[in-house]
Amino acid sequence: MPYSRIVGLGHYVPERIVTNQYLSTVMDTNDDWIVERTGIRERRWIDPATDTVANMAAKASRMALERAGLQPSDIDFIIFATITPDYFFPGSGVLLQRELGLDGRIAALDIRNACSGFIYALSVADQFIKTGMYKNILVVGGEIQSTALDVTTRGRNTAVIFGDGAGAAIVQASGRQGVLSTHLHSDGNFAEELYIRDPGSSRSAAERQPDQILDTSTYKVVMNGNQVFKHAVVRFTEVITEALQANSLSKEDINLLVPHQANLRISQYIQEKLSLSNDQVYNNIMRYGNTTAASIPIALSEAWAEGRIRENDLVCLAAFGSGFTWASALIRW
Ligand code: UT7
Repeated sequence: MPYSRIVGLGHYVPERIVTNQYLSTVMDTNDDWIVERTGIRERRWIDPATDTVANMAAKASRMALERAGLQPSDIDFIIFATITPDYFFPGSGVLLQRELGLDGRIAALDIRNACSGFIYALSVADQFIKTGMYKNILVVGGEIQSTALDVTTRGRNTAVIFGDGAGAAIVQASGRQGVLSTHLHSDGNFAEELYIRDPGSSRSAAERQPDQILDTSTYKVVMNGNQVFKHAVVRFTEVITEALQANSLSKEDINLLVPHQANLRISQYIQEKLSLSNDQVYNNIMRYGNTTAASIPIALSEAWAEGRIRENDLVCLAAFGSGFTWASALIRW
């Protein structure tokens, strides 16, 4: 049975840098609060005139293909993790296929598992590789969160956190070990703790198509930050431990943990709980904020480029977010 290996990584973030200082001019917040509570110093927000989820993903994908030494035509399947597709439907997978000029017949699958989306997508890719169905799968996470944020004092607990960007990985069939295991979980009892209500289908036709939308708040991100935080620190630790146990490995074996970049305090809590050194954990939330499904592939791509991931290293991915969903993956690089 073939193994799945990540043979190329790429990322793209929009050019516009949004600093904490800028946010403090449009809402009641300040750099000290944001840095102390989240670790974020700046994030990237799109320019709607130039950036789309699909074209950011295409830029990240081209970088991943180049680093893998592959052509777009080598890709035989696309898996696109996003909760912010360019259209309500179809999903962004087909738009990415078009952007890359890929063979019009290859399949494109969209995954909507928020912050855990990239690991869910990697897990799906791993299953298709193991069955022998596909050989080179493009796995992407891309998000535009900035346009769904309430950038006023009312929305300050989310507006300061989220950012835009895309990351991509080429997952290839190999005779050598790569993805050791993936572990996926969800608990829908907490669906409304972090969500956007509209444009939801469970509305009357009149509600879905009003003459005028008077209150746009249901189109913005709503998050019960304390509740998400409390669950995140427990689930992250649990799901990393689960992955280690499933492979008879211990936390000392981890060369690099790349957690979903939700909040620097969450990453630091996990690091402390698992007694990991600074060298064993990668964080870049300071520069990009929380980019949901894009955060892990962006972080992986940067960590690899900085030489933090070497051949044979044990890399652990872990995520928690809306749904609630949470997941982990262990990879022998
Ligand atoms: O991607 C996965 C999903 N997301 C997460 O994992 C996020 C998890 N949650 C968090 O990261 C944190 O809960 C937040 C960063 C969102 C909030 O931090 P907190 O330490 O939990 O703050 P809080 O919600 O308990 O609010 C404390 C105070 C409140 O004021 P009062 O009621 O004490 O007067 C808030 O109104 O901080 C206030 N506040 C702010 N103040 C300045 C909330 N947001 C801001 C802000 N600037 N941006």
